[in-house]
Amino acid sequence: MRIVAVYPGSFDPPTNGHLDIIERSSRMFAKVIVAVARNIRKDSMFTSAERVRMLRGLTSQWENVEVDSFNGLLVDYARKKEARVLVRGLRAISDFEYEFQMAHMNKKLAPEIDTIMLMTGERHSYISSNIVKEIAMFGGRIDDLVPPGVKDFVFKKMKGAGRK
Ligand code: COA
Repeated sequence: MRIVAVYPGSFDPPTNGHLDIIERSSRMFAKVIVAVARNIRKDSMFTSAERVRMLRGLTSQWENVEVDSFNGLLVDYARKKEARVLVRGLRAISDFEYEFQMAHMNKKLAPEIDTIMLMTGERHSYISSNIVKEIAMFGGRIDDLVPPGVKDFVFKKMKGAGRK
């Protein structure tokens, strides 16, 4: 069976941890759609179009990975794309409660769709997009946390905003 999976997230910006999850899920599913979503609880640094552009550049080597964005409910988007699986990365126990709630809520809204959690690679388990932005804002090194293209984009954006 050709299973289509959606990997949703805010990706603001994408990190090495996200790429690790994308690469591993691309080996498990016929197609993986990396879907840039709006998290209404977060203010974003990058526009949705910028995040899509970054992710397309980072994932071009995987033929079965597509990058898209959506508004509205994740399960409605997944249904539209005929996806049977939602992929999420789990970094630590602290992620579990939030992920548990989302997975159950999505299951209630769309019983035919399952959420699969992948353990984030050990060396990425302490990364978060907000931490990357904070370190960059204070002039710290983010080289090991994000791919080079993303690093340049983060610093360019901060310069544009007069922050660095
Ligand atoms: N490695 C490193 N960091 C990771 C990671 C990994 N593998 N996986 C997640 N993270 C980090 C992200 O960088 C992010 O950090 P931040 O909080 O500092 O920004 C954090 O973990 C979680 O982000 P992300 O995975 O991008 O998810 P999110 O919580 O921002 O996104 C949505 C949640 C967008 C999927 C959810 O809000 C959604 O589905 N929205 C659509 C509306 C909807 O359907 N709502 C009902 C849901 S039940």
